[in-house]
Amino acid sequence: MRPQPTLTVLGIETSCDETAAAVVRAGARGPAAVLSSVVASQIAAHAPFGGVVPEIAARAHVEIIDQVIAQAMRQAELGFGDLDGIAATAGPGLVGGVMVGLSAGKAIALARGLPLIAVNHLEGHAVSARLGGEVDYPFLLLLVSGGHCQLLDVAGVGRCRRLGSTIDDAAGEAFDKIAKTMGLPYPGGPALEALAEGGDPSRFNLPRALLGREGCDFSFSGLKTAAARMAQGVADPVERRDLAAAVQAAIARQLAERTERALAVYLHAHGGGDRRLVVAGGVAANGEVRRALTEVAEAAGFGFSAPPLAYCTDNGAMIALAGAERLAAGMIDGLDAVARPRWPLDEAAALAHPTHNPGRKGAKA
Ligand code: KG4
Ligand code: ZN
Repeated sequence: MRPQPTLTVLGIETSCDETAAAVVRAGARGPAAVLSSVVASQIAAHAPFGGVVPEIAARAHVEIIDQVIAQAMRQAELGFGDLDGIAATAGPGLVGGVMVGLSAGKAIALARGLPLIAVNHLEGHAVSARLGGEVDYPFLLLLVSGGHCQLLDVAGVGRCRRLGSTIDDAAGEAFDKIAKTMGLPYPGGPALEALAEGGDPSRFNLPRALLGREGCDFSFSGLKTAAARMAQGVADPVERRDLAAAVQAAIARQLAERTERALAVYLHAHGGGDRRLVVAGGVAANGEVRRALTEVAEAAGFGFSAPPLAYCTDNGAMIALAGAERLAAGMIDGLDAVARPRWPLDEAAALAHPTHNPGRKGAKA
């Protein structure tokens, strides 16, 4: 379903270490148009600590949110009066940061008499592939970021069924933690991918978690421990490159193997019709991950879509598009919408499997 008629929405994202705002115009036909997208990264502020520090993140969002929103409006060459709605991430994420963006969104909505859409950050990632081209519902989604790793059957906005999730770390978290043990800078994913370039992944033998195991869940903790142990004995630059390549290949392989199972579950549920696999979230930027997923999608007769690189990691455009789709369906929120540290996309599945929500940073599942 495409939003009808054309809706112009400001999206605000502050759930982790990116302060972002964007204006998106979504109409009845064709892919949504991104009129502006501003992302102010806090990577430099967190880098000395090797990870995101919640208090630093919240303060940094407060300091810059007004400017980021103003810049997004300026780039779109629009005033608030030209908007149909304000979408803001309401969770899951670091709640201090979420409150900053959600409060800013509420203030604009109240001052301008515009509808507020409280968007689930995961739903933003879920719709992000629709920013790059024609990707229609339904599709199978692999959502892989720093805080989340799950497979979802996405029938439409607000209609997701979780098929599997991580039982320990998220894939991006595994990239980040292993990269840290190898002395690479934060965020580790892109740094590890750069180091792995041209490496020989077969030189190191890493464990294959859950291989052949029923279901579509993930597990990266064994890989993390094994890689950390190996990293201690590796100093030679070529060996380091090969270890990075082996880690990247192991993560990509597990993502592909578990996705392959989910493709079968999805097919069973949907029978004929469109077959599409979508990957989203920061780890979707990884070339080896994309390659491995393309391979399993093709083998199962599925098309494969990934968002443009700029929309893989956190951004405001995906929140604006999720907001536009919700607005078109009449799904708006009151100014009493709360910031939620945890907020699973498929609440029924999360309640049925609460052990899948062990994360400190928010709902991994
Ligand atoms: O979606 P995102 O920006 O934030 C969350 O919602 O978590 O994802 C950030 C995660 C980090 O763990 C980062 O290391 C990972 O995505 N990431 C990558 C790459 N680019 C970002 N992992 C592997 N390869 C990449 N090229
Ligand atoms: Zn994210």
